[in-house]
Amino acid sequence: MNLFTPLNIKNKKLKNRVVLPPLVRFSMVEKDGLVTESLLEWYKDVAEGGAGLIIVEASCVAEDGKLRDNQIGIWEDSFIEGLSKIAAIGKKYEVPMLIQIHHAGFKEKVAEVPEELLDQILNQFVEAFKRAKKAGFDGVEIHGAHTYLISQLNSRIWNLRTDKYGGSLEKRMFFTEELIRRTKKLFNDDFILGYRMGGNEPELEDGIKIAKYLEKLGVDLIHVSSGVPNPEKKQEIKIDLPDDFPFDWVVYLGVEIKKHVNIPVIGVRNIKTEEQASFLIENEMLDLVAIGRGMIARPNWVEFAKKEYFKRTGKMVD
Ligand SMILES: Cc1cc2nc3c(=O)[nH]c(=O)nc-3n(C[C@H](O)[C@H](O)[C@H](O)COP(=O)(O)O)c2cc1C
Repeated sequence: MNLFTPLNIKNKKLKNRVVLPPLVRFSMVEKDGLVTESLLEWYKDVAEGGAGLIIVEASCVAEDGKLRDNQIGIWEDSFIEGLSKIAAIGKKYEVPMLIQIHHAGFKEKVAEVPEELLDQILNQFVEAFKRAKKAGFDGVEIHGAHTYLISQLNSRIWNLRTDKYGGSLEKRMFFTEELIRRTKKLFNDDFILGYRMGGNEPELEDGIKIAKYLEKLGVDLIHVSSGVPNPEKKQEIKIDLPDDFPFDWVVYLGVEIKKHVNIPVIGVRNIKTEEQASFLIENEMLDLVAIGRGMIARPNWVEFAKKEYFKRTGKMVD
């Protein structure tokens, strides 16, 4: 097995193990949240450049839930037309495409938000999933990482609620569990449920528990990134790495979590070269590697990696 070995997730065939992680392209989107020509051009370049899976950037379930003004929207049916143009690019180049579904949340105030407001946002997520399917995507990725709403709810240090949305692990996962339960009909062999989680929520042990819980809930694909920061220092909560681990600590979270679940795991952060990516896949440390900034620099990262692989090993990949 190598970086260019296909992988099937449900009925969808990924040509290789390289993923475009969600990347909000603020400079290509206006305040109206609509898909633009330059955004379509970007996804075309990545699809044409050989990516195995594309996860379209964070699309917001509510106008007041954006992380920045110029973020794409999915909060009304009027967005479906533009989003379907992105999905069509995936079909044309035979690259499965998920779209990330997001709400920025309330930071430290997540414990004080009225329960009815979370009920309302849950409804908005359900409607957003339906729109993603109508637009023709191959699935969705729930944004459950990086201090946004679902990450805030998952975290035992931030979510100090005492209602149905907080308390035990099960209650901190209630929002996700209910969302999955209410959208179950949408998911079949042609529609993938992905989840981007914090591998340190706040410790790796919490990340492992969350990942196992997600697998039990029927999630098809886990994407391990970072979780909420330390509330006092407002810094990422880093994990100590073994001395001989030659990659970023966020990649380590993914590698460790993969040992505890049977569904595919995507790892990410500071993976730049073909050799690094190949090492992680060939040693079965991860099922898929995401290349974010590397793809911004080189949308045809995979085509370039094939050449690098040939130079390094003498083996051709078509
Ligand atoms: C410009 C930019 C936009 C990003 N947008 C998102 C996003 O929409 N959703 C998300 O989960 N992560 C987002 N991220 C994080 C990336 O998906 C990725 O985890 C991060 O860039 C680390 O990977 P890299 O070192 O390969 O770039 C963004 C990162 C960058 C640099």
